[in-house]
Amino acid sequence: MVNIQEKIRVLTDRIHHLNHQYYQNSISEISDFEFDGLLKELANLEKQYPEFALSHSPTQRVGGTVTKEFKQVGHQYPMLSLGNTYSREELQEFDERVRKGLEGAHFEYVCELKIDGVAISLIYENGILVQAITRGDGVKGDDVTANAKTIKSLPLKLSHKDLPPWFEVRGEIVMPFAVFDALNLEREDIGEQPMANPRNAASGTMKMQDSAVVAQRKLDCYLYYLLGENLPSSSHQESLQLLTDWGFPVSKTWKKCEKLEDVFQFIEHWDKERFSLPMGIDGIVIKVNSISQQQELGFTAKIPRWAISYKYKAESATTVLESISYQVGRTGAVTPVANLKPVQLAGTKVKRASLHNADEIQRLDLRIGDYVHVEKGGEIIPKITGVDLSKRGLFSKPTEFLTECPDCQTRLLRNEGEAAWYCPNEYGCPPQLKGKVEHFIQRKAMNIDGIGAETIDLLFENKLLIDAADLYFLTYEQLIGLERFADKSVKKALSGIEKSKSQPFPKVLFGMGIRFVGATVAEKLAEHFQSLDNLRIASTEQLVQAPEIGEKIAWSVMGYFQRPESIAFIEKLKAAGLQLEMPAGVEPESEVLLGMSFVISGVFASFSREELQDKIKANGGKLISSVSAKVDYLVAGENMGPAKLEKAQRLGVKIISEQDFISMLG
Ligand code: IVH
Repeated sequence: MVNIQEKIRVLTDRIHHLNHQYYQNSISEISDFEFDGLLKELANLEKQYPEFALSHSPTQRVGGTVTKEFKQVGHQYPMLSLGNTYSREELQEFDERVRKGLEGAHFEYVCELKIDGVAISLIYENGILVQAITRGDGVKGDDVTANAKTIKSLPLKLSHKDLPPWFEVRGEIVMPFAVFDALNLEREDIGEQPMANPRNAASGTMKMQDSAVVAQRKLDCYLYYLLGENLPSSSHQESLQLLTDWGFPVSKTWKKCEKLEDVFQFIEHWDKERFSLPMGIDGIVIKVNSISQQQELGFTAKIPRWAISYKYKAESATTVLESISYQVGRTGAVTPVANLKPVQLAGTKVKRASLHNADEIQRLDLRIGDYVHVEKGGEIIPKITGVDLSKRGLFSKPTEFLTECPDCQTRLLRNEGEAAWYCPNEYGCPPQLKGKVEHFIQRKAMNIDGIGAETIDLLFENKLLIDAADLYFLTYEQLIGLERFADKSVKKALSGIEKSKSQPFPKVLFGMGIRFVGATVAEKLAEHFQSLDNLRIASTEQLVQAPEIGEKIAWSVMGYFQRPESIAFIEKLKAAGLQLEMPAGVEPESEVLLGMSFVISGVFASFSREELQDKIKANGGKLISSVSAKVDYLVAGENMGPAKLEKAQRLGVKIISEQDFISMLG
């Protein structure tokens, strides 16, 4: 038994060491595959002998702890906020206050990025992360340790010698832009409202009860503050260096500044460069370097006197709200859009701004004719941030949100707890019907070339289409008569439709557009149930038994198959000859690739593409058609597209050669 305990300890330490080398020093001592093997070995041992599992085990990275209610924990040192400044003058005033406070003594600043995330306090005891607490009200916060442990760049155990026995580190948890964009695309796929910005997404994620879901969200963090008693540093600069040496993720962008002029330069530099960072920042933070001088200056009730933030101005403009239009999406959700008198903002002409939902209109008390402030943050679509009430007309009336669908006049409904109003006329409302077809033909689903949104409009207008299955019954004669359709384009559309018949079952299932069934869930369901017929008769109990399927998805799937319209649609898909079941299947060879997902690209020397795909599946791996943050490996063949390569690199997907893949199989 002692042996097992020792083995778990040694494996745990080894993996921590490898992680440290990888994240802090960019050194891979062993291949990713070998690393995954060690991790799997440890997970198996811990499962067999849970009594020996260590609280800081690297297996905690994948999550699995479900917290019903977060425990409230008091902060050792209050978590204060920072004073804000917006101009050189205000910074000069701060500088003067510091100078006066230090009675003319020499001092220096350290400038850092002000990272736009969620503040976190981490407690380390004897080098082990024991607690992660949110800011809360500054005095006490939520214990989110299980969720924080899933953040890969955060060390769970430090191996450095001479660590203080107890210390606290503070920093910011962020969702990198690449992860945020991928997550929002996925949400769109399943008919959920996109997240407003990476900071909300990070904060929402940290509040999730299931740490396994948190682990999938790929959060990152940056640390900037070391606290404790008798610490071996006398300046902020030294603290940052210590944190870096101990293995913490510290942004290397900080800079020591002797003069205020250097601070201004730092500000200007990052004002230009901030959009090239992988995460959002909303300003910079200026801190007095010497810790004894920090102590001399002290704190007011709310903020330190030794630090201040300089906030970047979001680009903003004022213009007139001319009207509000309403768009009905595929799932019936009604999204209001502000139509603005065109105004120049951050180099582009802005005519529209998103308003999200009815609550947002009410919160801002937006009225037609109002002068509104529009801002552009990191996001693509500008947003309205407020109204200039001094310019409001005497007779303006509060905006009343629509009560009927703008397209089919059905009475709108709102589900309890949801912000969006929606049109329930799922099978009769034109934009919903068209939206469903657009969803069906998209690349990630049936990938139909030669047909786009405009063609779908045209087909609807000409009553050639009610649902996506009708595409398979279109004839040359029907299309050739249509506007903009010549022989060539008709043939292209028809061959695109024909080709799509060979799309595998999971793509068809995703294309059907069942709410909450995104591309990944469709794959899981298809694999588990093997055919649409099996899925159709599955009970909720059977559905939730499938891997990663929760009650919400189960109810949605059940509901879908209960509607006669769905059944009629499926019958047409069947008649069209689509793939509604998994292929006979490949003989399982091993489980060495279990839990790993692959994208393949290019041409291979020892396999055809199909053979390689079968090899992955036969050895327990999962095949994915396009690169996303969720993919583990990209198997790169000859002549692979540069865009795919670039995307994989950007999202941190491991890129392996055909040879690497073969050696993974052993
Ligand atoms: S120092 C007592 N440094 O901004 C000083 N804060 O608006 C504590 N923040 O509560 C904060 N980047 O959550 C500091 N480089 C940085 C920061 C930073 C982001 C956050 C932090 C703080 C808030 C104040």
